[in-house]
Amino acid sequence: MDNIRTWTAEDEAIIGTNTDATECKRCAVEFGYWKDDYITYFVKHVDRKAPEINRGYYARVRAIEMFIHQFLERCGTKCQIINLGCGFDTLFWRLKDTTQAVGNFIELDFPAVTAKKSHIIKRNKQLLQKIANEDGEVMIHDGDLHSDGYHLAGCDLRCLGEVRRKLAAAGALAAAPTLLLAECVLVYLRPDAADALLRYFAGEFERCTLVVYEQCNLGDKFGEIMLRNLSARGCLLAGSRQCGAPAEAAERMRALGFDCAKSWDMAAVWAALPEDDRARAEALEMLDERELLQQLHSHYALTVATRGDIFADIDLNA
Ligand SMILES: C[S@@+](CC[C@H](N)C(=O)[O-])C[C@H]1O[C@@H](n2cnc3c(N)ncnc32)[C@H](O)[C@@H]1O
Repeated sequence: MDNIRTWTAEDEAIIGTNTDATECKRCAVEFGYWKDDYITYFVKHVDRKAPEINRGYYARVRAIEMFIHQFLERCGTKCQIINLGCGFDTLFWRLKDTTQAVGNFIELDFPAVTAKKSHIIKRNKQLLQKIANEDGEVMIHDGDLHSDGYHLAGCDLRCLGEVRRKLAAAGALAAAPTLLLAECVLVYLRPDAADALLRYFAGEFERCTLVVYEQCNLGDKFGEIMLRNLSARGCLLAGSRQCGAPAEAAERMRALGFDCAKSWDMAAVWAALPEDDRARAEALEMLDERELLQQLHSHYALTVATRGDIFADIDLNA
């Protein structure tokens, strides 16, 4: 079905945001902000990014990781992670190198992205060997990659029927403790489509934690400029209307069926990171535009929402 569907120019621009994110992550990794032995397989060369961009990406990756670890500490590894709009994220491989590799890891993105990711995985032994089961078996079915504990499937997150089918093929279990990741993805969906997707997860997955990272406070001048710059590149941010104050993002999650939700702008998240982490990151590069970093921090938010008993006490300092 994916072969006959036509994707719009806007979809193509959205798909392109994965390249930006991967390049920015690789640049920050090269500067030593965090360790990622796998990102070089997904992007070969990057130009140097501004220090505030590197620092912003560090805050993003570190903050999401903080909740991933909190979740895994509570649930153990007999759980599933569903990475929505996964792009070329390397989390699966990074977790494999720790004691926190999870039972089932499912990644969803547009078929154009998952096909490329799948191709890169197949070509690189270091990636492939962490995916294959004991018999070295990896199945490719309808362009999707399936193995024991890792699934990469192409779909449009705006089509709930497709999402359900891909999750079923990937062995997702509604009753299993589930961590849902949505790192810079929901904002590309129209609010009704994003709401339907989130309502589905909140309704069906009785023990799930959702971690969302995306823009907030877009109603001010800085937000307007961000939107204008993205729109000049063909990305209209269909969900930008939902990017108000962080408290509104938390309220939205509760209205969609999550039991509790909290949201913070990245300035608050940064301040809550351990002092050692902040000091180490701050020593890596001189910051020319401190003001710009503050603006960026106040226009991105981390939202955590839960269903069930896993995370009755969501907190940055837990
Ligand atoms: C900014 S990138 C982020 C990638 C990854 N989550 C990260 O943070 O590195 C946004 C990703 O969401 C995906 N995406 C956006 N809208 C989508 C949709 N309707 N269906 C599937 N994937 C989508 C894009 O293809 C892209 O890979």
